[in-house]
Amino acid sequence: MEALDMDIQKHDEKRQGEAWQSNTEKIQHSKKFYIESYGCQMNFSDSEIVASILQSNGYSATTQYEMADLVLLNTCSIRDKAEQTIRKRLSEFKKVKDSKKGMLIGVLGCMAERLKAKLLEEEQLVDLVAGPDAYRSLPLLITEANSGSKSVNVLLSREETYADISPVRMNGNGVTAFISIMRGCNNMCSFCVVPFTRGRERSRAHHSILNEAQQLFDQGFREVTLLGQNVDSYYYIDPEKNEEITFAKLLEQVAKINPLLRIRFSTSHPKDITKEVLLVMSKYKNICKYIHLPVQSGNNRILQLMNRTYTREWYKAKVDEIKRILPGCGISADIIAGFCSETEEEHQDTLDIMEYCKYDMSYMFFYSERPGTLAAKRYRDDVPEVVKKRRLTEIVDLQNQLSLQSNRDDIGKIFEVLIEGNSKKNDQEWMGRNSQNKVIVFPKEHSDFQKGDYVYVKVLSCTKATLLGKIENNS
Ligand code: SAH
Ligand code: SF4
Ligand code: F3S
Repeated sequence: MEALDMDIQKHDEKRQGEAWQSNTEKIQHSKKFYIESYGCQMNFSDSEIVASILQSNGYSATTQYEMADLVLLNTCSIRDKAEQTIRKRLSEFKKVKDSKKGMLIGVLGCMAERLKAKLLEEEQLVDLVAGPDAYRSLPLLITEANSGSKSVNVLLSREETYADISPVRMNGNGVTAFISIMRGCNNMCSFCVVPFTRGRERSRAHHSILNEAQQLFDQGFREVTLLGQNVDSYYYIDPEKNEEITFAKLLEQVAKINPLLRIRFSTSHPKDITKEVLLVMSKYKNICKYIHLPVQSGNNRILQLMNRTYTREWYKAKVDEIKRILPGCGISADIIAGFCSETEEEHQDTLDIMEYCKYDMSYMFFYSERPGTLAAKRYRDDVPEVVKKRRLTEIVDLQNQLSLQSNRDDIGKIFEVLIEGNSKKNDQEWMGRNSQNKVIVFPKEHSDFQKGDYVYVKVLSCTKATLLGKIENNS
């Protein structure tokens, strides 16, 4: 079961030993920091903000934690397993800390926010704790911690968007980048800890988003992903023009920066994605035809207990609308198996809606009760773990079939692909994605393409995860 879990839960356990070097690393006496990120893209994006704040305060990055004066873990609380992974990692740091005088260890992100000062008591080696809205205070927290006091800032904010901080792009391919457009979440999905760890929803000023996208384009980036827990509720009033900027408007403005800049976004809540967004997507070729639309469950009673505020019929109609307005649009989902009181028939409804929507890909999890959430307060976590895991296996098996079928349907098609870099296995092959977010690997064939170029590729074969193709000259 362990291997299966690892595979399924890679979403929250993907870890990044940060492998970027800054120029300042050459300054011999500057203090060094090391940061490792867990969880969702928002956390990875936040680590780039943290890096920027630390670099402005004289720190330089290192990729080896043994060399660091400051070791930071940007953590995730979404499932219990995600937190266990962090605790294990902290215990690994202990040896190094014991042998290196003056090394500070800090916990950032959602677990910091959830556990607050308790983290300092539970994990004796932690010196500082900073929640997602407290990163500007890191220099101060570090000074406090250096003077021997344990320091904590977990204040959540109603305004903080870090709009004026230029993220340091880490570990990237120089082609694709994330832009955080909002923070927090006002939804109260009963299973979810995010509203507690990230606070109230707030949108970042649209001109700072546009500036960042333009700068990325000028630096050679060719794809940006607009990030938020619920991007469709982006809402900002331009104070100069007194103009309302909805997500559809923002999307259009980013799309207009340059036709060579691809735009993606994540995540859409099915209840909030609007027809205007779909229409803007259909109008601009450079807005990728891919929507991540978490369904969570296919059963109305469970959806209601989850407080998702839509029914299966409503969700299916939304998927129909997407397929009507955007033919060939890729759709993926998040799915939870074994939520409180879920019966076998209700689980079948989830399999059924997956078949209906024919997801190209899904992130699939079994339910993990999170302290403090509505579900933890109101419902019993009563589906036995072995049942949860069996249901999850059924969901994963079905998704594997759907993904394979979806990929097989692409054989013979020609796609425009943005080259992201060498394929993992072979430096004689490129790896890129099509608009639908599918990974395509193809031989370089002595062509003089480079990463960041668009190229037409014909799909010749596939696995469930990857399309395999060949450069098509005649398109
Ligand atoms: N804001 C995004 C997703 C946030 S978390 C959205 O609303 O879609 C990513 C996914 O983790 C969720 O979509 C859900 O499928 C899963 N998840 C969240 N809480 C969970 C829990 N307590 N147990 C299992 N999976 C959970
Ligand atoms: Fe969590 Fe729901 Fe908000 Fe997503 S929309 S972050 S699942 S509360
Ligand atoms: Fe995890 Fe926090 Fe993201 S709980 S999924 S890192 S918002």
